[in-house]
Amino acid sequence: RYSPSSGLRIFSSTAIGPTFPQFLLASASTCTSAQRFSTTSKYSSENIISSPLPEITNKFPQLKNYSQLYDFSLRESDQFWGTLGSELLQWNEPFTTVSRHDHKSSTFRWFHDGKLNAAVNCVDRHAAEHPDRVALIWERDEPGHEQRVTYRELQEMVWRVAGVLTESGVSAGDRVAIYLPVSPVAVATMLGCARIGAVHSVVFAGFSAQALASRIQDAGASVLVTANSSTRGGRLIPLQATARAAVALCPGVRQVFVMPHSPQPLELADNEVDLERAMSAVQTAPPPSVQGAEDPLFLLYTSGSTGKPKGLVHTTAGYLLYAALTHRLVFDYKPGDVFGCVADIGWITGHSYVVYGPLLNGGTTVLFESTPVHPDAGRYWETVERLRITQFYGAPTAIRLLLRFGDDFVKKYDRSSLRVLGSVGEPINSEAWRWYYDVVGDGRCTVVDTWWQSETGGIMIHMTVPQRRGSGTVLCCAVLSDSQGKPVYDSGATGALCVSSIWPGIARTIHGDHQRYHDTYFAPYAGLYFSGDGARRDDEGYLHITGRMDDVINVSGHRLGTAEVEDVMMEHPEVSETAVVGCPHALKGETIFAFLVLKENSASPQHKIETELRESVKHNIASYAVPEFMLIAPALPKTRSGKIMRRLLRQIAKGNLEDLGDTSTLADPAAVETVLKLYRQMP
Ligand code: WT7
Repeated sequence: RYSPSSGLRIFSSTAIGPTFPQFLLASASTCTSAQRFSTTSKYSSENIISSPLPEITNKFPQLKNYSQLYDFSLRESDQFWGTLGSELLQWNEPFTTVSRHDHKSSTFRWFHDGKLNAAVNCVDRHAAEHPDRVALIWERDEPGHEQRVTYRELQEMVWRVAGVLTESGVSAGDRVAIYLPVSPVAVATMLGCARIGAVHSVVFAGFSAQALASRIQDAGASVLVTANSSTRGGRLIPLQATARAAVALCPGVRQVFVMPHSPQPLELADNEVDLERAMSAVQTAPPPSVQGAEDPLFLLYTSGSTGKPKGLVHTTAGYLLYAALTHRLVFDYKPGDVFGCVADIGWITGHSYVVYGPLLNGGTTVLFESTPVHPDAGRYWETVERLRITQFYGAPTAIRLLLRFGDDFVKKYDRSSLRVLGSVGEPINSEAWRWYYDVVGDGRCTVVDTWWQSETGGIMIHMTVPQRRGSGTVLCCAVLSDSQGKPVYDSGATGALCVSSIWPGIARTIHGDHQRYHDTYFAPYAGLYFSGDGARRDDEGYLHITGRMDDVINVSGHRLGTAEVEDVMMEHPEVSETAVVGCPHALKGETIFAFLVLKENSASPQHKIETELRESVKHNIASYAVPEFMLIAPALPKTRSGKIMRRLLRQIAKGNLEDLGDTSTLADPAAVETVLKLYRQMP
């Protein structure tokens, strides 16, 4: 997505603390640190490890600068992670082995003989130390109604939810589906599961009943926690109705807990229980279950290029350590900060940087339930002023939207509390970066672009820019692989963005399908983790993310497999073929373009079919998956072996009609001509 001309050079800085945990990822054997992250001198490495990691630097005083720390983390990986593991987490039984990996079977284990409890690490230990510190600030849909929850209060909520779940028969290892708006009870439910060793599976509350049902079924969840309804951006979201429609498809669900989230009176069916009431009836806190380090903590579904969404399995200690460490380092987190990540808890960003990272560090985290434009385009910054937010973490798609409303919506609010502005989920374009830096941050804050994935558990690459010269994307570190799986270091090289060693936060498997895990991430490039993204190394050695190499698209920072949308559209009785591709969109980053062929006997008017298809995608997936453009053609361009030429359709969807590349393998050149003609006729 980034053409070389789209950005100026990006320089790294030490402005937010010299913290590049991602650099700890490439393996020592493949290259030197200098090769890996290029010009070390740019990092003014001397002050790089002064304050952020006293847990390491106190123990290893010989590590004087960043590159020494980096090399140490590779050379003595177990010492490095082992030290952090025992310092940052609280254990019931300490581990004796730091890592044990079996690359042949893609089985990775961290701290595997240690025992701990995730909820104790997030809440109880802080409640013991500083019970009255605010853990959560719930920023509801209407501004000015925020609610604060202290560590002591959160602890009580967690054990009450844990009690409710235990009484309903949930025990360690069972899966609990969560379909809730961003709220304290959602956090308490996640941690309530963790307290008893149950595995939570949060499903974004914008997903349809169908999508919720398939995730419940795949996870084998027997309990669902939802709310009657919520309001977002002033719009009512009927969660309970959707949950009911989903549960009707899931015979395995025996109990549904409904939180009275909005003031309407609760109406409960036979299998539904008032969660609030059940929580107040709990008499005693169930003791925290002592879990193995490698026991699963949660499932999170994400889209792949083929097939149904995959349930990534994150396990306990490694994930927690990685979330805690990256939260601290990348955002320069300090006690007293108010951390404002505006992501929904239904995504990995919400898991790692709304819930786990900030709470593990004993911090105060904001739960943002509204939208960037409710009641107006100043909402984020009004919230920053009122809550005195110190780190703001959001998505480029929202920044692009807000900058169109002009600077006044920003400038009328006091943003002097802000130190760090984070960006996540998609490339941040130069205009958005500048506005974020100049206007929102007053040229005073650090903008940090963070690259990572649901699979990685936490931030892998981050890029900070001190001067107003940014644009483009991350600089980085991980390895660029050629098609043979050999890392390439030449400037100008493009390749697959890979990671050459195993870090603690990596998802351990795909629920119920370890083979798919192996095939997706480890089979493409021998010995490397393949991210699915491509990257280019520039002439100074920095890597730039160029976008997905597979059939995954990114709509407003939401990941979507084109095959998922195609599968839904193919269900339509009058559709015979579909090809869905992404095309650039000024606000959403990418939007969906669907090419369709109808069956010979199709008689309905095209606009009717298109409306039905939109409805059906919304019904089966979610609103953001609905194609923005549809083109119905008599045939799609195919190769002689019968494969749809997606590359060509992608070019057409982008409007690159002159630049269709090699069309010599086309079976029927006339098909392209017709598609082009129809494209030109589109409104
Ligand atoms: C995909 C992962 C990580 C939390 C949110 C998304 C794209 C993510 C960046 C960035 C360019 C980015 C990649 C990646 N992506 N961050 N800073 N610059 N691209 O998690 O849904 O698992 O999606 O998002 O393509 O593979 P996800």
